[in-house]
Parts: sequence; structure tokens; C-alpha cells
Amino acid sequence: MRLYINIDHVATIREARRTDEPDPIAAAALCEAAGADGITVHLREDRRHIQDNDVRRLRQSVRTALNLELSQSEEIVAIAEEVRPDQATLVPERREEITTEGGLDCRRHADRIAAVLHRLKTKGIRTSLFITPDAESVVAALELRPDAVELHTGRWAHEWRGGGAAALAELREACERAHQAGVAVHAGHGLTRDNVGPVAALPHCEELNIGHSIVSRAVFVGLAEAVREMRERIDRARVTA
Ligand code: PXP
Repeated sequence: MRLYINIDHVATIREARRTDEPDPIAAAALCEAAGADGITVHLREDRRHIQDNDVRRLRQSVRTALNLELSQSEEIVAIAEEVRPDQATLVPERREEITTEGGLDCRRHADRIAAVLHRLKTKGIRTSLFITPDAESVVAALELRPDAVELHTGRWAHEWRGGGAAALAELREACERAHQAGVAVHAGHGLTRDNVGPVAALPHCEELNIGHSIVSRAVFVGLAEAVREMRERIDRARVTA
């Protein structure tokens, strides 16, 4: 199971003062040294955390894999084509949202998403579509033939304290459907040390993208330790699965 760390909120702290610390590039190197398999950033249209120059510097510095989350806005897609991250994850984006709230609507925006996927693939970039795990969304995404789908784990993050059986069953079914279509499965959103286990144990899921809870935990134990703790929880869940 690959663990990709989303370092957006390191940049959020920097942007709170519009200064030069903490530097997400240094944070990425620390995460990699602590066992991250990749670094994820979301270049939002409003540039509320990660900036264009961060993405360019990360392209130079990241030694594992750089996963760029992006909307389908022309400006952002053009930056992705220029920077060429190892992986690009298409996400829906609304300016007023606090974080990415749902998954892509791959039916309604099929033509635009297909066009962007084609452009990214032409540049040799591995592609992923961030979707909610309900059957309709999964089927619509698979028809667009991305390299991977990233399943939105928000429902699980909401419901796990009450058992979350239905949310987990939905995720499991989505994994199976994607796997049978020959499309890789990633997952993420709202995952914490306490709820990551059952998601890490999902069959066919090969990558987790985790951000907010790791950066939050880093305030108390440091970034490297926060990454190691998450890595350990994931590995333990895989062994007992
Ligand atoms: N995956 C995607 C596609 C996301 O948009 C986000 C949030 O930026 C994450 C994973 C990480 O979510 P969290 O910060 O809640 O761990």
C-alpha cells in the first residue's frame, strides 16, 4: 500500500502570514525520509495554499512521486502539462468550499474530463479521477478509462464511529468494480490514524492520500513521526487483513 502525503496544509500555515515558512519543499523531503511513497499537492484556482512556484520546485525536489490534484480549469491544466507531475488526480473544485467536498461528476462533465485525461496522458502523466464510491459514479468514471480512480472516503470518515458498515461495503464494492475493469484504486479524504485501518485493508486498494490529519498531528509530534505513525497503522492493518 503506497502512502502519499498531501502537504497542502503546510502551505496553509505559510500563507496565513504570506511569508516563507514553513516551506512545503522541506516538508516533502521530511515526509519522504520518514517513509512516504509520494507527495500530493492541490494547486487550487484561488491559490489558497500551494502556489505555482511550489509545484515547480517540488517537481525538481521530490524523489518518490509527485501527485498533482487539479480541477479542469484551462489555466491549471496548462500548468500540469508544463510541470509534468508523475501523477495527476482530477478533482471537482468550488471556490467557496473548505475542502474538496465530493467527487467528480463524470457523466455531466464527461467530454471535458475525457479531453483533459487525453492531454495529460499525451504528456506521459499517470491519471486518476477522484470520485464518490457509489456505483453510478464508479461506472461513469471507469468509462473514461483513467489509469486509476481515487475513492472519496468522506462518508467513511463521517460514519466510522458508528461502525460505518454501509460506507465500508460501498468502498469494497467500488474497489472490486474498478479492479475488474483493470483500473487501479486509490482512496483518501478525512483519513486519520484512528479510522485508516479498514480502508488500508480494502482489497485492490493500492494508494492512500492523506493530508490534514498528518499535518495536524505534526504540530504535536513532528512531521516525520506523524508520517511514521500513519505508516505503521497502515502496515498493521494490511498484515491483519
Ligand atoms: N485526496 C483528494 C483528492 C483530496 O482532494 C484531498 C484533500 O485535499 C485528500 C485526498 C486528502 O484529504 P485529507 O486532507 O482529509 O487527508
